[in-house]
Amino acid sequence: AEKVLIDCDPGIDDALALALAHGSPALDVVGITTVGGNVELGHTTRNALCLVDYYGMDVPVARGAGRPLVREPRTAADVHGETGLGGVVLPEPTTSRLSDRHAVDFLVDRLAAEPGEISLVAIGPLTNIALALRKEPRIVEWARRLVIMGGAYGRGNSTPAAEFNIHADPEAAAVVFGAPWRPVMIGLDLTHQARADAAVRAGFAGLGRLESELLTPCLDFYGEHAGRHHAGPAVHDACAVAHLIDPGLIETVPARVDVETHGRFTSGMTVTDFDAPVPNADVATVLDRDAFWSVVTEAFRNVARG
Ligand code: BDR
Ligand code: CA
Repeated sequence: AEKVLIDCDPGIDDALALALAHGSPALDVVGITTVGGNVELGHTTRNALCLVDYYGMDVPVARGAGRPLVREPRTAADVHGETGLGGVVLPEPTTSRLSDRHAVDFLVDRLAAEPGEISLVAIGPLTNIALALRKEPRIVEWARRLVIMGGAYGRGNSTPAAEFNIHADPEAAAVVFGAPWRPVMIGLDLTHQARADAAVRAGFAGLGRLESELLTPCLDFYGEHAGRHHAGPAVHDACAVAHLIDPGLIETVPARVDVETHGRFTSGMTVTDFDAPVPNADVATVLDRDAFWSVVTEAFRNVARG
């Protein structure tokens, strides 16, 4: 299985992404790092610890940056609930452990220990990843693959121009997209094809407590608060993990991505040039929906079985 580090801000769709990663035989989650984003860092970290326990994962959690590099924090508690998982209250964590290391040190050292072996998936604001790059630029060589849930070449969701993770910390995103590696950008153009509609959710029946305690209440909350789409909420972050599981699920196109950090109306926009002579990213365009949901449902089944 491919080793993976997950930098996240759980977050309802982050919670689903963690379940997908843990339940997939293709991946071996070797660490989880947390960042302030959907809700503040105390909540995202606690949620990560609760989820690790709840899913039965054996993986260290390291707490990272609580604030963006430059800007004031802005959360999305309207979409994810005050504590980040809608109304869901998970049991107190008993076996999961919070690392005594900062997420940035943890990420750098973990990647350094096995160069070329560990992939990185970033599904929150890019603050920790930018700080890690500044601390140790060689992580661009050490990370096997980098998959980012963030941005859009079409419309945003935080603003008409910007997607939440990039809008939350545009300076960090500019550092990450400006570094000499080749991230896969899983933006809203792709993730809006991954809506948990009624048919998808019917497929979760029979997943026992995972379904009744977590999936149903989370998706109900998310569905009501994540926009006006009756087609069901988009499980953005799970798409980034799915790309690691099977790149064939998601078509990508090489492009040059630059992050707007100055715009009055466009701050946090991922300006995407599909005609650029020197691409710096692979940008996701088309999702194989049926294959995606069967991979997700199968992974959830593995988590539910324990
Ligand atoms: C992204 O923003 C967050 O609210 C979600 O968890 C996801 O990472 C979608 O724009
Ligand atoms: Ca997220």
